Formats: sequence, C-alpha cells, structure tokens
Amino acid sequence: MSLLEIKNVNIAYNTGEKKVWACRNISLDINEEESVGIVGESGSGKSTLAMGILRLLPENIIEVSGEALLEGKDIFKMTPDELREYRWKTMSVIFQKSMNSLSPVHRIGKQMEDIYRVHYPNESDENIKKRIYDLLKIVNLSDRVYMSYPHELSGGMMQRVAIALALIFSPKLLIMDEATTALDVVTQSQILNEIMELEKKMKIARVMITHDVSVVASTCKRVVVLYAGEIMEQGDVKDVLLDPKHPYTQGLLNSFPSFKGERGNLRGIEGSLPDLSQPLPGCVFAERCPHASERCFKEKPKQRDIKSRWSVSCHLIEEGKVHD
Ligand SMILES: Nc1ncnc2c1ncn2[C@@H]1O[C@H](COP(=O)(O)OP(=O)(O)OP(=O)(O)O)[C@@H](O)[C@H]1O
Ligand code: SF4
Ligand SMILES: [Mg+2]
Repeated sequence: MSLLEIKNVNIAYNTGEKKVWACRNISLDINEEESVGIVGESGSGKSTLAMGILRLLPENIIEVSGEALLEGKDIFKMTPDELREYRWKTMSVIFQKSMNSLSPVHRIGKQMEDIYRVHYPNESDENIKKRIYDLLKIVNLSDRVYMSYPHELSGGMMQRVAIALALIFSPKLLIMDEATTALDVVTQSQILNEIMELEKKMKIARVMITHDVSVVASTCKRVVVLYAGEIMEQGDVKDVLLDPKHPYTQGLLNSFPSFKGERGNLRGIEGSLPDLSQPLPGCVFAERCPHASERCFKEKPKQRDIKSRWSVSCHLIEEGKVHD
C-alpha cells in the first residue's frame, strides 16, 4: 500500500470576484521511504498542494475535492483530533520560514519540550529533556542550542532546529517546502546530505518542493512536474530529468545552466502562466508550447504511461511525435 495516495485533487481559492483553481485533478502516489521532488515555476500550485495535504490551507479556500489517503485514511475527512495525531506523528512539514513559528522570548530547548509534552503529557521531564538533546545531536547541533534563543542562531542552525522539530515524533512522511532555499549552497548541501542519511536511518519518505531541479536530481528518487496546477509529467528522476518527454519539462530543464559542455544561452520558456480563474479546456501549456497544435487548445491531454510509474500529459505521446 502507498504511504500517501492523492487522487483527483482539486483546490480553489476565492480571490474576491474570482475563483482561482490552484490544483486541478492531481493524482500521485508516494511509497514508504520514497523521496519525491515536486517542481514547477512560481505559481504552479506546489505549496497549495502541500498545504492541502497538511490541511493547513488559508480561510479563503472555497473548494477542496478528491482524496488524499494517508495510510489508507482520507486526510480531507479527518476530525481535528485525528488530524493533530497524523500531522505530527505520521507526517510533518518544514517551510522556508518554519522557525518564525517559534517564540522569540523562550529558549529553543524549552519550546521543543513543550511541544513534546502536549502529545505525551505523562512522559517524565527527564525523558523529554533527553529526547530533545538527542534530537539536537541528530541534526548536528551542539548542546548549547538547547539554552539559546531563536535570534542567537544562524539561518543554517535555525533550519536544523526546524528539522529536529519536524522529526520530534519520528514521522513517516516529511514535507519540505523550499526549506533550504534561503541557505548558502554549502550549508544547503550539508543539510540535504544529513537529511538523506536521517531518512535512511529513520525510514522516512520525503516530499521535496523546490524551484531548483538540481536539488531534486541529487536528493530524490522520483519527480513530479507541475504547471498551472496540473501534473505535466512524473516518474523516476533518472528517466524524467535525463530524457524529459513533456515540452514543459524540457523547457524547465533548459532554463537551468549546465556546468558541463559548451557555454550556451539559456533557452527558458517565453510567456507566463495562464489565468487560473478561467476554464482551461485544452492543454494548460498550449499558449507557451512550441509544438502546440489546434487540438491542444481544444482538448485536454490524457495522462499516458511511458512505462510503469512514468507518465506524461501531452497529445504528442499519443500521436507518436515526441520531440527531444
Ligand atoms: N491565499 C491565497 N489566496 C488566493 N490565491 C492564492 C493564495 N495562495 C496561492 N494562491 C494562488 O494559487 C496559485 C498557486 O500558488 P502556490 O503558492 O501554490 O504556487 P507555488 O508553486 O507554491 O509558487 P512558489 O514557487 O512561488 O512558491 C497561484 O496562482 C497563486 O496566486
Ligand atoms: S498537449 Fe500540445 S500544447 Fe500541451 S504540451 Fe503537448 S504539444 Fe504542447
Ligand atoms: Mg510555494
């Protein structure tokens, strides 16, 4: 059984007069201990999907439909009590600014202890303290951090505390939304390596949301490419990133510089996302796609399998006209 199974999920915001569809008909599976990157340009719906799975969407959400089955149980139908249990103990999240949720006037160790105590009120103070010191050690922080205030830590140390907090109840799924984006590349790669080691030891699955395809290439097994709230392509990193079949994935990869080979211009993708408040009957990428035909503007492409767990939503696949 999959750890998380997302089936036909749609999420819409109310922005005054308009209903904005941020996620449309999204389906994907995450197995236990699997690492899955979600990539796509700004506004493609990555965070909305993550917030939906976590049931942390803002108040102006007007529609959430479909199913998000965590160990077979639908997150969208959980009671607040069930959700509280699941949110910390089965899945947890780290955002770019996770540390902002900590109080600036209390020491880190004390705040971590309080979170632990809410869930295990009968645990002894001694055991809780030991658990927090162990966690700090796991994320390579010294004991001194226990007595520190948030403002006394560097950005990298703060993200390590956020990781320790996310791991406090040994979840099965860790969601990271741009969690290392603000760090310098050296600290980012240290932290990512540590996370990969930890998840192996603790048998954790990870969803990695990022703009940075190179982070997905080096830290994930699978990748999901989102555009305008829809999945364009998904599969193993070594298939999708080495031999992308969808014109959007191809454009996205061409937008990143290569450190090898001849120096060349970045091709990028001209234009911008479509208006998500309008009905989009055809392919959502048609306005920007170099291969768009008349059919693309009228008919939504179906998801086609290239092979097991590698699928692409593009008419070219069915028509046998895939471009390199
Ligand atoms: N609170 C909100 N109210 C209304 N619309 C929103 C809200 N949050 C996001 N949106 C809209 O939903 C769409 C998807 O946004 P989302 O933040 O999920 O994208 P993203 O892929 O995470 O982008 P980024 O890479 O910039 O973080 C966008 O059109 C955005 O404007
Ligand atoms: S369906 Fe058409 S417009 Fe969409 S990506 Fe494929 S070729 Fe381009
Ligand atoms: Mg986001």
